[in-house]
Amino acid sequence: MEPLSDSAFSRWAALLESRIGVRVTPAWEGHARRILNAHLHDLKINDKHPALLASRKGLAGWWRELLDQLLIKETTFFRHRASFDYLRCYLADKASTGEKRTLRLWSAGCASGEEAYSMAMTAQQVWPNEQFQVLATDISEAALNQARAATYKASRLAGLMPPEHTGFLSLGEGRVQVEASLRSYVHFVHHNLVDRRWPRETQGMDVIFCQHLLGYFGPERRDAVVARLARCLKPNGCLVLGPGEYLYRHIPGMQREKRSDVLAFVRSTDSRLEC
Ligand SMILES: C[S@@+](CC[C@H](N)C(=O)[O-])C[C@H]1O[C@@H](n2cnc3c(N)ncnc32)[C@H](O)[C@@H]1O
Repeated sequence: MEPLSDSAFSRWAALLESRIGVRVTPAWEGHARRILNAHLHDLKINDKHPALLASRKGLAGWWRELLDQLLIKETTFFRHRASFDYLRCYLADKASTGEKRTLRLWSAGCASGEEAYSMAMTAQQVWPNEQFQVLATDISEAALNQARAATYKASRLAGLMPPEHTGFLSLGEGRVQVEASLRSYVHFVHHNLVDRRWPRETQGMDVIFCQHLLGYFGPERRDAVVARLARCLKPNGCLVLGPGEYLYRHIPGMQREKRSDVLAFVRSTDSRLEC
Protein backbone atom coordinates (compact mmCIF):
# COMPACT_ATOMS: atom_id res chain seq x y z
CA MET A 1 0.00 0.00 0.00
CA GLU A 2 1.20 3.53 -0.84
CA PRO A 3 2.16 5.60 2.22
CA LEU A 4 -0.30 8.37 3.07
CA SER A 5 -0.09 11.45 0.86
CA ASP A 6 0.29 14.84 2.58
CA SER A 7 -3.37 15.70 1.98
CA ALA A 8 -4.59 12.32 3.30
CA PHE A 9 -2.34 12.72 6.34
CA SER A 10 -3.79 16.21 7.00
CA ARG A 11 -7.28 14.73 7.01
CA TRP A 12 -6.16 12.12 9.54
CA ALA A 13 -4.48 14.77 11.69
CA ALA A 14 -7.70 16.82 11.73
CA LEU A 15 -9.77 13.79 12.69
CA LEU A 16 -7.38 12.82 15.49
CA GLU A 17 -7.40 16.33 16.88
CA SER A 18 -11.19 16.44 16.95
CA ARG A 19 -11.44 12.97 18.55
CA ILE A 20 -8.68 13.07 21.15
CA GLY A 21 -7.50 16.68 21.27
CA VAL A 22 -3.91 15.79 20.42
CA ARG A 23 -2.46 18.01 17.70
CA VAL A 24 0.02 16.63 15.22
CA THR A 25 3.10 18.80 15.69
CA PRO A 26 6.21 18.57 13.47
CA ALA A 27 7.97 16.69 16.32
CA TRP A 28 5.22 14.05 16.44
CA GLU A 29 4.48 13.82 12.71
CA GLY A 30 7.06 11.13 11.81
CA HIS A 31 5.79 8.85 14.59
CA ALA A 32 2.13 9.49 13.67
CA ARG A 33 2.73 8.77 9.96
CA ARG A 34 4.55 5.51 10.72
CA ILE A 35 1.80 4.21 13.02
CA LEU A 36 -1.00 5.31 10.69
CA ASN A 37 0.63 3.75 7.60
CA ALA A 38 1.13 0.44 9.44
CA HIS A 39 -2.44 0.39 10.79
CA LEU A 40 -4.02 1.31 7.48
CA HIS A 41 -1.92 -1.36 5.79
CA ASP A 42 -3.37 -4.01 8.16
CA LEU A 43 -6.94 -3.01 7.33
CA LYS A 44 -8.62 -5.17 4.71
CA ILE A 45 -10.83 -2.35 3.46
CA ASN A 46 -10.40 -0.45 0.20
CA ASP A 47 -11.63 3.01 1.12
CA LYS A 48 -9.45 4.24 3.99
CA HIS A 49 -10.80 7.78 4.15
CA PRO A 50 -10.78 8.83 7.84
CA ALA A 51 -14.41 10.01 7.83
CA LEU A 52 -15.53 6.60 6.52
CA LEU A 53 -13.44 4.62 9.02
CA ALA A 54 -14.58 6.85 11.90
CA SER A 55 -18.20 5.90 11.28
CA ARG A 56 -17.72 2.28 10.24
CA LYS A 57 -19.03 -0.36 12.64
CA GLY A 58 -16.76 -3.19 13.82
CA LEU A 59 -13.60 -1.09 13.92
CA ALA A 60 -13.63 -0.25 17.64
CA GLY A 61 -10.69 -2.59 18.35
CA TRP A 62 -8.76 -1.18 15.40
CA TRP A 63 -9.25 2.40 16.65
CA ARG A 64 -8.30 1.44 20.21
CA GLU A 65 -5.04 -0.11 19.05
CA LEU A 66 -4.30 2.83 16.80
CA LEU A 67 -4.73 5.28 19.67
CA ASP A 68 -2.76 3.10 22.08
CA GLN A 69 0.19 3.17 19.73
CA LEU A 70 -0.11 6.82 18.73
CA LEU A 71 -0.30 8.33 22.21
CA ILE A 72 2.80 9.23 24.19
CA LYS A 73 2.43 7.54 27.58
CA GLU A 74 5.76 8.31 29.14
CA THR A 75 5.58 8.83 32.92
CA THR A 76 7.41 8.16 36.19
CA PHE A 77 6.64 8.02 39.90
CA PHE A 78 6.72 11.52 41.45
CA ARG A 79 7.53 12.85 38.00
CA HIS A 80 7.54 16.54 38.89
CA ARG A 81 8.75 16.34 42.47
CA ALA A 82 7.88 19.98 43.31
CA SER A 83 4.22 19.34 42.45
CA PHE A 84 4.11 16.45 44.94
CA ASP A 85 5.85 18.58 47.60
CA TYR A 86 3.14 21.17 46.97
CA LEU A 87 0.46 18.47 47.27
CA ARG A 88 1.89 17.31 50.59
CA CYS A 89 1.87 20.91 51.96
CA TYR A 90 -1.61 21.58 50.59
CA LEU A 91 -3.05 18.44 52.21
CA ALA A 92 -1.16 18.95 55.49
CA ASP A 93 -2.54 22.48 55.66
CA LYS A 94 -6.09 21.19 55.07
CA ALA A 95 -5.59 18.44 57.66
CA SER A 96 -4.42 21.02 60.22
CA THR A 97 -7.86 22.68 60.11
CA GLY A 98 -9.33 19.48 61.56
CA GLU A 99 -11.08 18.35 58.36
CA LYS A 100 -11.53 14.59 58.49
CA ARG A 101 -13.82 13.85 55.55
CA THR A 102 -12.98 11.60 52.61
CA LEU A 103 -10.70 13.45 50.27
CA ARG A 104 -11.13 13.09 46.50
CA LEU A 105 -8.14 13.29 44.17
CA TRP A 106 -7.94 12.85 40.40
CA SER A 107 -5.06 12.02 38.10
CA ALA A 108 -6.36 13.09 34.66
CA GLY A 109 -4.27 11.41 31.94
CA CYS A 110 -2.71 8.89 34.35
CA ALA A 111 -0.92 6.76 31.70
CA SER A 112 0.38 3.56 33.37
CA GLY A 113 -0.63 4.75 36.84
CA GLU A 114 2.58 6.09 38.40
CA GLU A 115 1.11 9.58 38.95
CA ALA A 116 -2.05 8.22 40.61
CA TYR A 117 -0.06 5.94 42.95
CA SER A 118 2.31 8.83 43.78
CA MET A 119 -0.73 10.92 44.74
CA ALA A 120 -2.05 8.08 46.90
CA MET A 121 1.33 7.68 48.65
CA THR A 122 1.42 11.40 49.37
CA ALA A 123 -2.13 11.48 50.74
CA GLN A 124 -1.46 8.37 52.82
CA GLN A 125 1.36 10.18 54.60
CA VAL A 126 -0.55 13.30 55.60
CA TRP A 127 -4.30 12.82 55.52
CA PRO A 128 -5.94 11.81 58.82
CA ASN A 129 -7.21 8.23 59.02
CA GLU A 130 -6.14 7.77 55.40
CA GLN A 131 -9.62 8.59 54.20
CA PHE A 132 -9.16 9.39 50.55
CA GLN A 133 -9.88 8.11 47.05
CA VAL A 134 -7.92 8.64 43.86
CA LEU A 135 -9.72 8.60 40.53
CA ALA A 136 -7.28 7.90 37.68
CA THR A 137 -8.40 8.31 34.08
CA ASP A 138 -6.89 7.95 30.63
CA ILE A 139 -8.03 7.56 27.04
CA SER A 140 -5.68 4.60 26.44
CA GLU A 141 -7.10 1.20 27.43
CA ALA A 142 -3.64 -0.37 27.23
CA ALA A 143 -2.26 2.20 29.69
CA LEU A 144 -5.20 1.62 32.05
CA ASN A 145 -4.65 -2.14 31.99
CA GLN A 146 -1.00 -1.61 32.90
CA ALA A 147 -2.01 0.84 35.63
CA ARG A 148 -4.49 -1.61 37.16
CA ALA A 149 -1.86 -4.37 37.19
CA ALA A 150 0.42 -1.91 39.08
CA THR A 151 3.47 -3.97 38.16
CA TYR A 152 6.64 -2.15 37.20
CA LYS A 153 10.34 -2.71 36.65
CA ALA A 154 12.15 -2.27 39.96
CA SER A 155 14.51 0.17 38.21
CA ARG A 156 11.59 2.64 37.97
CA LEU A 157 11.80 3.20 41.72
CA ALA A 158 15.29 4.69 41.41
CA GLY A 159 14.21 8.28 42.14
CA LEU A 160 12.03 7.45 45.15
CA MET A 161 12.84 8.70 48.63
CA PRO A 162 12.13 6.98 51.97
CA PRO A 163 9.44 6.05 52.98
CA GLU A 164 8.14 5.84 49.39
CA HIS A 165 9.76 2.43 48.75
CA THR A 166 7.55 0.86 51.40
CA GLY A 167 4.61 1.14 49.01
CA PHE A 168 5.96 -1.71 46.82
CA LEU A 169 6.32 -5.48 47.03
CA SER A 170 9.10 -7.27 45.23
CA LEU A 171 7.87 -9.86 42.72
CA GLY A 172 11.39 -11.06 41.95
CA GLU A 173 13.15 -10.93 38.57
CA GLY A 174 13.48 -7.16 38.76
CA ARG A 175 9.73 -6.52 39.05
CA VAL A 176 7.74 -4.80 41.80
CA GLN A 177 4.05 -4.27 42.46
CA VAL A 178 2.30 -1.45 44.27
CA GLU A 179 1.20 -2.80 47.62
CA ALA A 180 -2.44 -3.97 47.76
CA SER A 181 -3.59 -1.49 50.43
CA LEU A 182 -2.26 1.42 48.37
CA ARG A 183 -3.86 0.02 45.21
CA SER A 184 -7.22 -0.09 46.97
CA TYR A 185 -7.34 3.72 47.12
CA VAL A 186 -7.02 4.10 43.35
CA HIS A 187 -9.87 3.59 40.92
CA PHE A 188 -9.13 3.55 37.15
CA VAL A 189 -11.71 4.69 34.61
CA HIS A 190 -11.55 5.12 30.85
CA HIS A 191 -12.16 8.79 29.98
CA ASN A 192 -11.47 11.09 27.06
CA LEU A 193 -10.99 14.71 28.18
CA VAL A 194 -12.38 15.82 24.82
CA ASP A 195 -15.71 14.03 25.29
CA ARG A 196 -18.73 16.24 25.76
CA ARG A 197 -19.97 14.21 28.72
CA TRP A 198 -17.70 13.61 31.69
CA PRO A 199 -18.59 10.89 34.20
CA ARG A 200 -20.33 12.02 37.37
CA GLU A 201 -17.41 10.78 39.45
CA THR A 202 -15.18 13.54 38.03
CA GLN A 203 -17.21 16.11 39.99
CA GLY A 204 -16.50 17.40 43.51
CA MET A 205 -12.72 16.94 43.51
CA ASP A 206 -10.35 18.28 46.17
CA VAL A 207 -7.25 17.92 44.01
CA ILE A 208 -6.74 17.40 40.28
CA PHE A 209 -3.39 16.67 38.66
CA CYS A 210 -3.30 17.08 34.88
CA GLN A 211 0.34 16.99 33.87
CA HIS A 212 2.30 16.40 30.67
CA LEU A 213 -0.88 16.16 28.61
CA LEU A 214 -2.21 19.65 27.86
CA GLY A 215 0.94 20.45 25.91
CA TYR A 216 -0.28 18.02 23.23
CA PHE A 217 -3.51 20.01 22.75
CA GLY A 218 -4.01 23.19 20.74
CA PRO A 219 -4.53 26.44 22.73
CA GLU A 220 -8.32 26.58 22.44
CA ARG A 221 -8.78 22.97 23.47
CA ARG A 222 -6.34 23.51 26.35
CA ASP A 223 -8.34 26.52 27.61
CA ALA A 224 -11.60 24.59 27.40
CA VAL A 225 -10.23 21.53 29.24
CA VAL A 226 -8.58 23.65 31.96
CA ALA A 227 -11.83 25.60 32.53
CA ARG A 228 -13.72 22.32 32.74
CA LEU A 229 -11.25 20.77 35.17
CA ALA A 230 -11.62 23.89 37.33
CA ARG A 231 -15.37 23.35 37.42
CA CYS A 232 -14.83 19.82 38.74
CA LEU A 233 -13.21 21.18 41.91
CA LYS A 234 -14.84 21.83 45.24
CA PRO A 235 -14.38 25.35 46.60
CA ASN A 236 -10.76 25.58 47.86
CA GLY A 237 -9.86 22.57 45.72
CA CYS A 238 -6.66 22.76 43.68
CA LEU A 239 -5.65 22.07 40.11
CA VAL A 240 -1.99 21.18 39.53
CA LEU A 241 -0.80 21.41 35.93
CA GLY A 242 2.55 20.57 34.37
CA PRO A 243 5.06 23.38 34.73
CA GLY A 244 5.05 25.53 31.60
CA GLU A 245 2.09 23.67 30.10
CA TYR A 246 -0.39 26.46 30.55
CA LEU A 247 0.98 29.95 30.26
CA TYR A 248 -0.63 31.88 33.04
CA ARG A 249 -3.91 33.25 31.90
CA HIS A 250 -6.91 33.92 34.00
CA ILE A 251 -8.93 30.82 34.88
CA PRO A 252 -12.38 32.03 35.99
CA GLY A 253 -12.90 31.52 39.72
CA MET A 254 -9.32 30.33 40.32
CA GLN A 255 -6.34 31.91 42.08
CA ARG A 256 -2.83 30.98 41.03
CA GLU A 257 -0.61 29.83 43.90
CA LYS A 258 2.34 32.16 44.40
CA ARG A 259 5.08 29.58 43.83
CA SER A 260 7.47 29.64 40.92
CA ASP A 261 8.24 25.90 40.99
CA VAL A 262 4.67 24.62 40.50
CA LEU A 263 1.72 25.59 38.36
CA ALA A 264 -1.17 25.27 40.77
CA PHE A 265 -4.50 27.07 41.00
CA VAL A 266 -6.97 27.06 43.89
CA ARG A 267 -10.68 27.46 43.36
CA SER A 268 -12.06 30.48 45.23
CA THR A 269 -14.60 29.75 47.94
CA ASP A 270 -17.07 32.27 46.56
CA SER A 271 -16.84 31.19 42.91
CA ARG A 272 -20.05 29.97 41.34
CA LEU A 273 -18.79 27.73 38.60
CA GLU A 274 -21.37 25.48 37.03
CA CYS A 275 -20.29 21.85 37.18
C1 LIG B 1 2.77 11.77 28.66
S1 LIG B 1 1.46 10.95 29.52
C2 LIG B 1 1.46 11.83 31.07
C3 LIG B 1 1.21 10.94 32.26
C4 LIG B 1 1.22 11.60 33.62
N1 LIG B 1 0.11 12.52 33.76
C5 LIG B 1 2.53 12.30 33.89
O1 LIG B 1 2.53 13.51 34.08
O2 LIG B 1 3.55 11.64 33.93
C6 LIG B 1 -0.01 11.63 28.71
C7 LIG B 1 -1.23 10.75 28.89
O3 LIG B 1 -2.36 11.48 28.46
C8 LIG B 1 -3.26 10.59 27.82
N2 LIG B 1 -4.17 11.36 26.95
C9 LIG B 1 -3.90 11.96 25.78
N3 LIG B 1 -5.01 12.53 25.28
C10 LIG B 1 -6.00 12.30 26.17
C11 LIG B 1 -7.38 12.62 26.22
N4 LIG B 1 -7.97 13.30 25.22
N5 LIG B 1 -8.10 12.23 27.28
C12 LIG B 1 -7.53 11.52 28.29
N6 LIG B 1 -6.23 11.16 28.30
C13 LIG B 1 -5.47 11.55 27.25
C14 LIG B 1 -2.34 9.63 27.06
O4 LIG B 1 -2.98 8.41 26.76
C15 LIG B 1 -1.18 9.49 28.04
O5 LIG B 1 -1.34 8.35 28.85
